[in-house]
Amino acid sequence: AFQETPLLLSDGIFDVTRRYNADTNPNKANLGQGSYRHDNGETWILPSVRMAKEAIADCDHEYLAVAGLKSLRDEVEKLVLGNTAAFKEGRVASVQSLSGSGALMLAGLTLKTSNTNIKTIYITDPTWPPHDLIFRSQGFEVRTLPYYKDHSFDFEAYMDVLKQAESTSAVVLHACAHNPTGCDPTRDQWRQIASVIRERGIFPIFDAAYLGFNTGSVDEDAWAIRYFIDDLGLEAGLCLSFAKSMGLYGERVGLVAFVTQTPDTARAVFTVLEVAQRGTVSTPPAYGAHIANAILGTRTIAEQWERDLITMSSRIRGMKQKLYDELVRLQTPGDWSHIVKATGMFAYLGLTLAQVEYLEAKHHIYMAKTSRISVAGLNDSNIGYFARVLDQTVRE
Ligand code: LMR
Repeated sequence: AFQETPLLLSDGIFDVTRRYNADTNPNKANLGQGSYRHDNGETWILPSVRMAKEAIADCDHEYLAVAGLKSLRDEVEKLVLGNTAAFKEGRVASVQSLSGSGALMLAGLTLKTSNTNIKTIYITDPTWPPHDLIFRSQGFEVRTLPYYKDHSFDFEAYMDVLKQAESTSAVVLHACAHNPTGCDPTRDQWRQIASVIRERGIFPIFDAAYLGFNTGSVDEDAWAIRYFIDDLGLEAGLCLSFAKSMGLYGERVGLVAFVTQTPDTARAVFTVLEVAQRGTVSTPPAYGAHIANAILGTRTIAEQWERDLITMSSRIRGMKQKLYDELVRLQTPGDWSHIVKATGMFAYLGLTLAQVEYLEAKHHIYMAKTSRISVAGLNDSNIGYFARVLDQTVRE
């Protein structure tokens, strides 16, 4: 049966980690995969997660409901949408998901099976690679919106294409910390984007994998979501992940939610979400859900989590500044100010593929081939080395 099976490329991001793990050089640095590392270069179990694990030490290993842990869904809805009319009026349908990618998968399936007539999904160019994979595999036509030029958000080009989109389209919006570029629309640009989306009847899907992780404040990072949903009263899909913000990468804990116009519609959409879940992963994983639930639902742990978010986001901002300062000190050719302007976990360096490959082969620096670096991979012990070899590479 498999004689004609094509050989596909392995995932670009996880492949970087595989090569990094196989490298024995002591100077190696992994700036590929977006996982937070602390100032010692190690993965960081958040103090709030440690507290939550203690609190749930006795939790059993029973299946969760198909929709996931009800108290977690309630907490997450409250966290992100708590002050909105949609939440207060019961116009939100949500189920727990396998982190952000599971949320996108369920969002796509639900749009397919809810008679929405949505046929096309717009994603940004560039974007996080699974956006294309997930929606294309569900039979949507995937089109791109130009996003990046001269180290910044290419607002004009983006709007020119968005204005052509039909009402049979949905658009994936990175709620904050655009992955991979780290260039977010300003609030004024968000307002203009929202106004085109409303006028043309395009369906907005927020990919919100970095709420709280970006600035340290969920409220601040959820601004665009709330603007669309509450200020403009639009329907929307939300795909939330706690991988980054709670450091729960392997637990796969997330939520997909749809904000609808009426409570009845929300009830119908909820049934479609449940069926989509049952038909794919059956029921979502329990352990991470219990941890996230204990964090959000226990005041003292939630307060610790807020401090953890500030710790992680400030460390990343500090590293961007140090890298920039070091490149300025070395008088590295070019303007590197986009590194400090970038939001979120990543910075998009703007190197050529040859330079990226050279950094890996010669200097044991691993990054995505687009030259996106995960800034969390930098720390006081390796930042000097990285700046030096980057400087050398750019001058070659
Ligand atoms: C990334 O973009 O590096 C992370 O979101 C990890 C992943 O799943 O790709």
